Amino acid sequence: MTEKSPRYASWTQGKLALPELAERKRRGEKIVMVTAYDAPSARLADAAGIDLILVGDSSGMVVHGRDSTVPVTMDEIVFMTQWVSRGARRPIVVGDMPFGSYETSDEEAVRNAIRLVKEGRADVVKLERGGSSVRRARAIVEAGIGVMGHVGLTPQTSTVLGGFKAQGRRSDEARQMLQDARELEAAGCFAIVLEAVPASVAQLITRDLSVPTIGIGAGGGTDGQVLVWHDMLGLYEGRAPRFVKRYADVAGVITEALTRYAAEVRSGAFPEDQHSYAMPEEELAAFEAGLQPRR
Ligand code: KIV
Repeated sequence: MTEKSPRYASWTQGKLALPELAERKRRGEKIVMVTAYDAPSARLADAAGIDLILVGDSSGMVVHGRDSTVPVTMDEIVFMTQWVSRGARRPIVVGDMPFGSYETSDEEAVRNAIRLVKEGRADVVKLERGGSSVRRARAIVEAGIGVMGHVGLTPQTSTVLGGFKAQGRRSDEARQMLQDARELEAAGCFAIVLEAVPASVAQLITRDLSVPTIGIGAGGGTDGQVLVWHDMLGLYEGRAPRFVKRYADVAGVITEALTRYAAEVRSGAFPEDQHSYAMPEEELAAFEAGLQPRR
């Protein structure tokens, strides 16, 4: 089957090609990524021209009400990735590998990455940290799956980092972060997330790498940006990090609509005739005529 055959075209139609991201870096064009966790949100992100959708383990906190990403399971990410993949035609879908799905061995990491691609229909996967994650990234890339790295604040190991706080503020930390990013690039990662990193450090790392960096709380000098859906749309009640910009107050819109709905149900203003089904008059007459009194 050639690249031009109709069957091949239907598989790939409209999907942003992975090498295009490196081209964007070379051309100095920014890359836009957002998280999403279901099909309708993915459809909206696609319609808005978003380049990548991350099915993040942030879902554990912003969707499932946990106080950490650590308990998120493979099954959860696989399910959500299936939903997102059905809604996302053009954006590259990134399945986030949850804590515990890649730490123990290369084999386990490859098995779980394959699950995300095969069952979840992710286009690529993401994992956190340098160190042993570099070996895992290399093994997954060798299995034929694209890998996005993630350094700086890595929420899955935030306990050992001293909490959800900026990383790389000391020169030795910044040096280690650059080293991790270089090793992830050498392992074959196609892009690297920099989370909660001083803007100056993120800019230097971005300049050093040939693969694109995607920043979150890392200033404007990275090759792209990512924000968490619920944070940027005002859907998360918890305290959002300082790097979040709220682009909408969707919680306000939803609360107002639900309050109006409750009031209209209670007052009888809803439903109106237009929201109800009618029955032909003769059928209703026959129904009423045939009614037997209850004993
Ligand atoms: O899980 C997630 O949403 C993430 C982003 C914050 C990059 O890892």
